[in-house]
Amino acid sequence: MARVIGGIGISHTPSMGIEYDSAEGGALAFTPEWQPWFDGTRPVRDLVAELDPDHMVVIYNDHLNYFTLDNYPTLAIGVGNEFPQMDEGWGPRALPPLPGSHEWGIHLSRHLIENNFDMAVCHDLGIDHGIFSWLPYVLDRPFPIPVTPIAVNMIREPLPRPQRIAALGSALRQAIEAYPGDQRVLVIATGGMSHQISGARFGMANADLDSWFLDQLPDHLDELLKIEISEFMRLGGTEAAELALWYAMRTALSDNATVRYSFSTFPKITGCGVLAMTEPTEEKQ
Ligand SMILES: [Fe+2]
Repeated sequence: MARVIGGIGISHTPSMGIEYDSAEGGALAFTPEWQPWFDGTRPVRDLVAELDPDHMVVIYNDHLNYFTLDNYPTLAIGVGNEFPQMDEGWGPRALPPLPGSHEWGIHLSRHLIENNFDMAVCHDLGIDHGIFSWLPYVLDRPFPIPVTPIAVNMIREPLPRPQRIAALGSALRQAIEAYPGDQRVLVIATGGMSHQISGARFGMANADLDSWFLDQLPDHLDELLKIEISEFMRLGGTEAAELALWYAMRTALSDNATVRYSFSTFPKITGCGVLAMTEPTEEKQ
């Protein structure tokens, strides 16, 4: 059977991708605000290379770049063999499409739907900065590992409950383990940390909340789940709601998973961080 070997929670922001392109992926210096993020993602890149997964499942949210308010699913899964990049208004970036796996996508769809997660099944899922902003920091191009993207609504009320997102991660682990064949799977959840990009509180953030969240997630998920998403929005800005997506990464792992790396910084507008955990079978010798 396939197995989950590790999980990564990681931030995304549009500016993260723009800064990557401006610095030509590290060939040039990053701006002083963003150099710490590039440096802080080097251990993540090394860890992904060390783990050498056969497949990745990425839980993210679309920012009205593919889905629209006219038809916005709470849960959606990509089942194509390739996912295009959405143009977010500044033109397409020089990135290849995201590689997918129809076989994995259909398998996970079937298993999740049979376990009462009613996914919108998407063959032509366009992907925005929710995945493309951080991906080049942790994977060299052309992206070598097929991905099953799972989009969760973090944009339009009503949002899914935190417990529902945590349950999705648990169901995902079962679905992965039901896949025939000896494949190693890395589960990644991505959501912006504290930030607010609209309204009277534009620009507010809470770096203390971000680092506290990174400390709590590995071993105190039950306590985090008692906090309403609206409370994260109050403390960290409206878009801090996306932190709830990270729960699915934690519950896709066993209780015995351990922290391999944790890092946070605050480049501009949005808190940025990483939490990387691995299963005991993957601990460095
Ligand atoms: Fe986001």
